[in-house]
Amino acid sequence: MSGHGTPIPMISHPCGPLAGRADVPGDKSISHRALILGALSVGETVITGLLEGDDVLDTAKAMRAFGAEVSRDEHGTWRVHGVGVGGFAEPSQVIDCGNSGTGVRLIMGAMATSPITATFTGDASLNKRPMARVTDPLALFGARAVGRSGGRLPMTVVGAADPVPVRYEVPVPSAQVKSAVLLAGLNAPGQTVVIEREATRDHTERMLAGFGATITTEDTPEGRVITLNGQPDLIPQGIAVPRDPSSAAFPVCAAILTPGSDVLVPNIGLNPTRAGLFTTLREMGAELEYENLREEGGEPVADLRARFSPDLRGVEVPPARAASMIDEYPVLSVVAAFATGQTVMRGVRELRVKESDRIAAMAAGLRAGGVTVEDGPDWWIVHGLGHGNVPGGQTCESHLDHRIAMSFLVMGMAAQAPVSVDDAGPIATSFPVFEPLMAALGADIRRG
Ligand code: S3P
Repeated sequence: MSGHGTPIPMISHPCGPLAGRADVPGDKSISHRALILGALSVGETVITGLLEGDDVLDTAKAMRAFGAEVSRDEHGTWRVHGVGVGGFAEPSQVIDCGNSGTGVRLIMGAMATSPITATFTGDASLNKRPMARVTDPLALFGARAVGRSGGRLPMTVVGAADPVPVRYEVPVPSAQVKSAVLLAGLNAPGQTVVIEREATRDHTERMLAGFGATITTEDTPEGRVITLNGQPDLIPQGIAVPRDPSSAAFPVCAAILTPGSDVLVPNIGLNPTRAGLFTTLREMGAELEYENLREEGGEPVADLRARFSPDLRGVEVPPARAASMIDEYPVLSVVAAFATGQTVMRGVRELRVKESDRIAAMAAGLRAGGVTVEDGPDWWIVHGLGHGNVPGGQTCESHLDHRIAMSFLVMGMAAQAPVSVDDAGPIATSFPVFEPLMAALGADIRRG
C-alpha cells in the first residue's frame, strides 16, 4: 500500500467480536528520531522494532542521502553508521519525505546548521502543510529557506555556515518544531534553549540524553525550558523501539465499540506526553485496563486490554490534554459517536494542519454517516447516538491521511451499515500491517 500510488478503496463491514492479541508496529516518532540521531553520531547505532512504514523508510532514505550508511538485515534489525554532528554531506538529489511532516521538519532542523543546501519535497498532502513554523526558528540560527507561497514545499534550505545558538519560545504546541530547533542546536556552539508553554512529546529530549548530549528540562512558570549544549559527540546506541500508542489506538477503540470484543495490545508505551487518549477513554467508561504495568528503557509500558464497552458517555476533553493525544482525536471522534451525550474537544487548532484538516475530514465523514458534528476553528463537538444507533453506510474521503482512513474503518465495524473509504493506501505510512492485523482479530474489511 502506498499513499503515492493508485487509490486503494476499502469497506469495513459490521463484524462479530474482535478477539486475540494485536502486535502493533513500532513507534513512528521514536523511529524517525532513532534514524536521525543514529546518523548524527559517529559509529554504529543498532535499532530493533523500527516501524517499517513509508514515513520512516523515507527518513532512512534521506539519512543515506546526507551521507549515513543505513542497512537492514534479514531479521529486521537496522544499522546506522552515522557521520557525526556537523558531518552531513550535501545531498545530490531532492529529498522526498513522502507524507511525513515529522520526517521533513526534523531533517530540516538536523541539516540547518551545516554548510550544505538541500531541497525537500513530499506528496500532495505534505506539500500543503506549513513549514514556516520550522524555517522561522531555523533562520535565527542563520539558515535560509526558499519555498512556495505560504512557506510550502518544495523548499530549499541553505544551512548556516556559522550557526549561532538560539533561545526560542515555540508559538504552537508542536513536538516537531521543538525537535527541529533542538536538532539544529546540536551543531551550534553554546547553549540552545527551547521553551514550550504546553508539554509535547519528549522523545527527542530523552533520546538526545541517551546519545550522550547534555540536555536539561525544567518546568518553570513560563513553561517547559529545555537547554541543550551544542556540538556534543553523540555516542551510538542500541535502541529498542517501543510499540506505537497512536497505532494501538485503532485496535483498542475497535474492541471498545464492537460487541463481545476482548483484545490485548501488548507492550504499549504510556509516556504521559502520548497517553491522553487512554485516559479519555477510561473517563468515557471504556473497559480499558493496563495490565503488567512496568518500566522499560525509562518509559512506562503496559499491555492494554480493551473490552466491548456498551455504556460509553460523552466527555469534555481538557484542552491541556490535547498535545498528549493530538493524533488520536480522529478515532476518538468515532468512539464519541457511539457514546451517549456530547463529546467536546477544544484547544485543537493544530488538527487543521495535520496530514489533512482532521476536523473537516472527520466531521464530513461522520455527518455523512448520520452523526451530528459541530465545529469551529479550534474546537468540535460530536453528538453521540449511543451504542447500536450509529447509521454508517457512507463513503469517506481519507485525504491522503492514514489516521482518517483507519478511523472510518473502525467506525464500520460497529455501525449499522458498512463504512467505505476512498483510499486506504496512506495507512502504509504508519501501520503497514493494519489490514491483516485487524482481520486476524475478526474485523471484516474488504478491498474495493
Ligand atoms: C510528532 C508530533 C506531532 C504529531 C506527529 C508526530 C512527532 O506533530 O502530530 O504525528 O513525532 O514529533 P506536531 O509537532 O505538528 O504537533
